[in-house]
This record gives sequence, structure tokens and C-alpha cells, in this order.
Amino acid sequence: MARIIAGVSSSHVPAIGAAIDNHRTSEPYWQRVFEGFERSKEWMRNAKPDVCFAVYNDHASAFSVEMIPTFALGTAAEFPIADEGWGPRPVPVVKGHPKLASHIAQSVILDEFDLTLCNKMEVDHGLTVPLNLMFGSPKEWPCPIIPLAVNVVQFPPPTGNRCFNLGKAVKKAIESYPEDLRVVVFGTGGMSHQISGQRAGLINSKFDHAFLDNLTKNPKKLTKLSHLELMREAGAEGVEMVMWLIMRGALDEKVDEVYRFYTVPASNTAVGHIILENRIKGAKKAAAKPAAKGKKSAPKMKRAAALQKIQRIRS
Ligand SMILES: [Fe+2]
Repeated sequence: MARIIAGVSSSHVPAIGAAIDNHRTSEPYWQRVFEGFERSKEWMRNAKPDVCFAVYNDHASAFSVEMIPTFALGTAAEFPIADEGWGPRPVPVVKGHPKLASHIAQSVILDEFDLTLCNKMEVDHGLTVPLNLMFGSPKEWPCPIIPLAVNVVQFPPPTGNRCFNLGKAVKKAIESYPEDLRVVVFGTGGMSHQISGQRAGLINSKFDHAFLDNLTKNPKKLTKLSHLELMREAGAEGVEMVMWLIMRGALDEKVDEVYRFYTVPASNTAVGHIILENRIKGAKKAAAKPAAKGKKSAPKMKRAAALQKIQRIRS
């Protein structure tokens, strides 16, 4: 049977994609951001998922303002890269997994979540930037990716509670798929940021850290946050964080936080990132697979995360 081994959340700031595409990742400003994902890429190389299920939002690329589905599942064999105004990003086409996606559609819709099914869909930076952060810049993405686009651009987006429960339905769907696949679930967007208006540039690190803490230990607390509370604390676009709750809902109740990274600013947003592993009995931990010579092992990653937390508190 298929099983979810871990969840990954990260911001999907478009400027990160531009920094990659324009070869600016080693500039001091961007180095700080990309260094934080070096261990994440190592974790992903060890995890070697067979499929990723990626929750993101479309930014008027696949869906114009004429039609905005609340939850849109990509069931196609491949998803071309959208032109967001500067030509499509120079990243590989995203290949899907139609068989698993159709199974998820059937299971989740019969569980009374009315998904829009997309047999043709372009994907934008909301999806491709997190793929770069977790996989680097390969010629082909190393595994099929099933996209789930969530409306967070036109009010009202789904509630955090609805997203968390959808994550549970996705978990049930994936775990009932007969093939033995190892799946990683992505939640993207956030963290605190506001692009326009009087509060443009808003960043609330205190709120972001508390959100990350609760995402691991007490996600139900986060499901009680209203849109208004989310926007007041994390900015108008901070409401994207409801998507992280789909990822968290798809995981087990108790998870291990194996890595966390947070930095400000990147463009005009806070960058937050977390990796949560399910505790699968009798299974090898993804990050605990033998690391290549000179590479840090999982316990070292945990220690590094703890050190980072201490440094964060001190700064
Ligand atoms: Fe976004």
C-alpha cells in the first residue's frame, strides 16, 4: 500500500525562482536563503519519494480571475510551466501520476470534498519554487508530482479547518492506494507577508515561529484561526498558510520535526520551512538512511536545527 512518509512546507516566493533562473543564488542576499535549504535537499535525496503531492496556489496563471476553483486537483500526465509575464521559468515540465491522482479524486470526492479535476493545467512559481528548494535544479524532476491548487487569491479562501480535514481525506486516499509508493506531501505559501496597502512589507516573526511550533505539536489550534486573525497577524497574503494545514492533516497525529529554517526577508516576505516525518513503525526514517561521506546524518540535522533555534532566539 502507498504511505505518506513526510510533509514539507515552504514559502514559494517568486523572487526565489528569479534568483535561481538569473544565477544570483550566491549573492549575499540570496545565499542566506538558499543555504537554509541545503540540508532539505540532502533530506530529500535520502527520502527518495516515489511521488509528491504538492499543495500550492495558482497566481492567475492556470486560472484567470474569470474562474477560480477552491480546490483543483491535477490529474494530467504532465503540467506545462506557465508564462507569468517573463516567459515560462526554465525548469522541467512537471510530470504527474494520473493513476494515483484519479484514485485520490475518487476517494476524496466520495468523502464529500468537491474537487475540481484538471486534466490540463499549467503550473506557476507557487509549485515550481518549492520544487527547486527541495530538489535543486535537475534536468528532470526526480519523481511524479500531483498538484493541488487552492484558492487563496480571492475571498473567501477555504478555512484552515476545512484544509486540515481535506488533508485527512487525502491521507485516507493515498493510504488506500494498492501500490507500494512512498509519498511526500508539500504545503506551500506564506509565511507572514503583505504585498500591498498600508501594511505592505509586514512581517511578524513571532507569529510565524508560533505557527511552526503549533504545526508540529498542536495543529488543531491553528485550524481555529479565522481568516481575519491570519490576515491581521500574518498580512493579507499570509492567509496562504491555510495550505500548510492540508499537508499537516495528511500526516499522522504525532510527527517528528526533523528540520526547520526561517529567515527574513526574501523579497518582501518571511521565508519559513519545516520538514515533518511520520513515525512509521518498523520503517527506516527517510533522513536516517546512510548519509554520503562527509554529509550530516539525521541526528546531526536535528542538532543543527536545535542550534539554529537557539541562534534565532539569541538574534
Ligand atoms: Fe503565493
